[in-house]
Amino acid sequence: MTTATAIAADAILGTYRRAPMELVRGAGVELFDADGKAYLDFVAGIAVNALGYGDAGLEQAMRDGMTSGMVHVSNLYRTSAGERLSEKLVESSFADRVFFCNSGAEANEGAFKIARRWARAQSPAKHEIIALRGAFHGRLFGTLAATDRPQYRMPFRPLAGGISIAERDLGELESVLNAETVAAVIVEPVQGEGGVRVVEHEFLRALRQLTTERNVLLIVDEIQCGYGRTGTFWAYEQAGITPDILTVAKPMAGGLPMGAVLMTQAVADAMQPGDHGTTFGGGPFVAGVALHVFDRLHDPAMLRHVTEQGAWMGAALRAMAERSLKIRAVRGVGYIWGIDVTDAAKDVVARALELGLLVCSAGEHTVRLLPPLVMGRADLERGLRLLEQAIG
Ligand SMILES: Cc1ncc(COP(=O)(O)O)c(C=O)c1O
Repeated sequence: MTTATAIAADAILGTYRRAPMELVRGAGVELFDADGKAYLDFVAGIAVNALGYGDAGLEQAMRDGMTSGMVHVSNLYRTSAGERLSEKLVESSFADRVFFCNSGAEANEGAFKIARRWARAQSPAKHEIIALRGAFHGRLFGTLAATDRPQYRMPFRPLAGGISIAERDLGELESVLNAETVAAVIVEPVQGEGGVRVVEHEFLRALRQLTTERNVLLIVDEIQCGYGRTGTFWAYEQAGITPDILTVAKPMAGGLPMGAVLMTQAVADAMQPGDHGTTFGGGPFVAGVALHVFDRLHDPAMLRHVTEQGAWMGAALRAMAERSLKIRAVRGVGYIWGIDVTDAAKDVVARALELGLLVCSAGEHTVRLLPPLVMGRADLERGLRLLEQAIG
C-alpha cells in the first residue's frame, strides 16, 4: 500500500491536498462543516460561486430547468436555452459565435483548435500557440503546454507540440511573433493562478496591436477573471481592446460545469461541421441555469457593486500591508486579490481555516481572495479582520 492510499479516507484520487473538514451545507456567503462550524467563504469554489450559496433565483432557475424533462439532448438537435445564451454572450461582447463546452481547460483546448484551424486555412506552416510567463490555462495536454508551472509540466513531458511560453515582454514578443508560423497568443487579463497579476492595460493594448500587425489571433482567457469579477462584465473591456477569441467557464452556470469559446465571425468561418465537438456542452438544463446567472452578473448594479466594494477592499488590503511586516505586496482588482506574504501561503490558508475563513493560495507565497460577487461590505470587513489575524 502506498502512503497516498494508506492515508486516504476515501477512494478519491489524491490530486488535491484537501482540507480536513467535511463541508455539508452553504448559505449566503458561508459554508458549514459536519460539526456545524461556519466558514466565511473568500474562495467561492475558486471563482465559481459568484452568487454564493442557496441563492433563491439560482434555485428557481434549476427547478424551471427540470420542467421540460430535458436535462440533456444531443447537440445534433436545436434547443432554445443554449441559443438564447449564445445571443446574450454575443450581444454583450466582441463576439459573433459561441462554442459551449464543460470546463475552463476544455474551453482553452477548443480555442487552440479553433485558432489553429483559422491559421492553417491561410498557410500550412501557421500553427504555433504562444502563452505568457506566469500563465495558467489548464492541465490537459494542450493547455498544460500553455501553463507556466514546471512542477505541473515536468512529470508529463512530452507535452503537446507547437505550444510555447514567452516572456511578458513586448521586445521578446516582437521577435517571436512570426506571421508565417504563429497562429495565436493567449493571455489572461488577470493571471489568477500565477499570483493575481493584473496585466497592465498598456501591455494588452500593445499586444493587441502587435498581434493584429502580424496577423496573429489574440485569445483572452477570462475563465477566472471574467463575468464581472473585475467590475466590468469582461475584463478585456477595461483595457479598451477586443480579442479574436475569448474563453470563459467557472461562474457561467452557478456551479454546474460549463465553459464557452467566443469568437469573431472571421475566426468562426474557418470551422466546419465535425471540426470540434462535445457531448454535454450547452445542454438545455445547464444553459437554462446559465441564462439566469448571465442576467444576474451582467446587471449594471452588480458590476457597480463589485467595482465599488472591490476598490474598498483594495484600499483596506493596502492599509493592512502598511500595518504588517508580514505582507510584501498586494495586487488585484474588483473581487480578485493576491497578497504576497512572508510565511508560506499554505500556512496562512490553514490558520484562516481554523479561524473560520476560507482563502486559497496562488503560488508559494501568495494568498488569493475570490469572494462571491454578492458579498457585501460587512462580510468583506469581517473576512479581512480574520485574514489579518491569520497572517499574524
Ligand atoms: C485562467 C484559467 N484558465 C483555465 C483554467 C482551467 O479551468 P478548469 O479547471 O475548469 O479546467 C483555470 C482554472 O483555474 C483558470 O484560472
